[in-house]
Amino acid sequence: MRGMHHALRGVVLLLACFASNLPPATARYQAKPPPEFCDQYEAVYKSIDQDLELYRNNGGITPELMARTMSLHTAGNREKGLAVGFYNGRVYVIDTVRRMKLKPFGHHVTLWTAYLKVMLDLQQRFGAHLPNAEFVWHTIDRPVRLTNASAGARDNYPVFRFGKSAAHPDILIPNFHFYMKAYQRKFLDKIKAFNRDTPWPDRAPLAVARFSAYGRYVHPRDPHCQRLGAGGAALCKVTGRSTAICPVRQHLHEWANAHHRDRLDVSKDRLMPMDHHARYKYLLHVDGQGLSSKLEFLLTMGSLVLKEDSGYRAYYHHLLEPGVHFLPVWKNGAGPEDILEAVDWARQHDQQAHRIALAGQQLAARYLTSEARACFWLRLFQAYAATLTYDPVQYRNITFSAEGEREGRGEEAVAAAGLRFLKPVARFIEEDVATTFPLLLSELEWEP
Ligand SMILES: *[C@@H]1O[C@H](CO)[C@@H](O)[C@H](O)[C@H]1NC(C)=O
Ligand SMILES: *[C@@H]1O[C@H](CO)[C@@H](O)[C@H](O)[C@H]1NC(C)=O
Repeated sequence: MRGMHHALRGVVLLLACFASNLPPATARYQAKPPPEFCDQYEAVYKSIDQDLELYRNNGGITPELMARTMSLHTAGNREKGLAVGFYNGRVYVIDTVRRMKLKPFGHHVTLWTAYLKVMLDLQQRFGAHLPNAEFVWHTIDRPVRLTNASAGARDNYPVFRFGKSAAHPDILIPNFHFYMKAYQRKFLDKIKAFNRDTPWPDRAPLAVARFSAYGRYVHPRDPHCQRLGAGGAALCKVTGRSTAICPVRQHLHEWANAHHRDRLDVSKDRLMPMDHHARYKYLLHVDGQGLSSKLEFLLTMGSLVLKEDSGYRAYYHHLLEPGVHFLPVWKNGAGPEDILEAVDWARQHDQQAHRIALAGQQLAARYLTSEARACFWLRLFQAYAATLTYDPVQYRNITFSAEGEREGRGEEAVAAAGLRFLKPVARFIEEDVATTFPLLLSELEWEP
């Protein structure tokens, strides 16, 4: 009798012990629909569906594809990317490996931290509106792999990236420079001042461009990004299986300064503060190694933007209509000569040029705000989560700690099948980023 009592107690204890390790018996998490104010930015969301189409048509993003994406593209696997998960409204850094050494990634850790702060901002803004999802972002300047268009291809990886051409399978996200260069406060909020302080008639009728002379990196088989020099001269040199380098900026610098100073003020050596660009009527944008984020800054100046038609694009570029918001120049299959034609046209059509300048500026003011970008991310996560073939929390049998709940921190994911690294973002920044790079946080300029 006594023995049996003991045995029973043992079972009860065992059960109690087991029960405390189970996730709390909450109902399956369902993200709330996006808040209504995000509806006003509908037009900017178009790139999301375009980018996800490849995955939708190929059976969706499976756990196996996600595992391969993580093992090919994240820091845990010695690549310049990071994997992130949203589980029941909270954001985590995740990986398939147990340890992540940040030191070798230097400057990329700064970029990841800027993005992680965006994720924390989204968690705070949207919380229960965030769907369960996991994804990988990569921060080198250019996409490397071309889309494999064969039916059933298993080597297209859904990597989040700020720039690509139509030939790549990556998924476009806002550039980290929006957040690191105070785009809202120092640019969008100053549009009135830019227009007032340097009225259109006071601006010089020259096309100005300032840049570091980085070579352009393109994939040798990317039909959208090949570049030619003046007179149709060959410009790109193939240096590897997935790399050709085109000295686009160097070429422009030499060509403009040798023959065209009457229309072009181009330099790779003389820097110019961003707000001085408003002293010129025409702003020439040329991409760098890959897509250059300077375009979004130039658009706020109230001057006419002449944009190199490089083939690289950002998440909002479909909104930019040629001849309405900017003038495209240096197109695929031709040299830079049409820059001169654009300047001549603008000089002869001053009012129209001014109208295009203001339309470009207004487009930025409407669609590139801090709020519009936050809504873009939310909408991206929703469409992306719907492209996953699995609910990560269910699939990974994620265990949540009740302790966080008791301490008012909300439930915290503490274990997930298939992930050997799992840490709330705030703790990752504190424990991993700050201990590896002690000055990074105090030196990082960041705003939403
Ligand atoms: C593209 O995918 C197909 C189908 O899986 C595969 O046979 C082929 O090798 C892939 N092509 C390249 C260039 O990797
Ligand atoms: C989650 O748990 C179920 C039931 O124990 C198991 O069959 C499944 O393999 C687990 N999921 C993963 C990803 O390990």
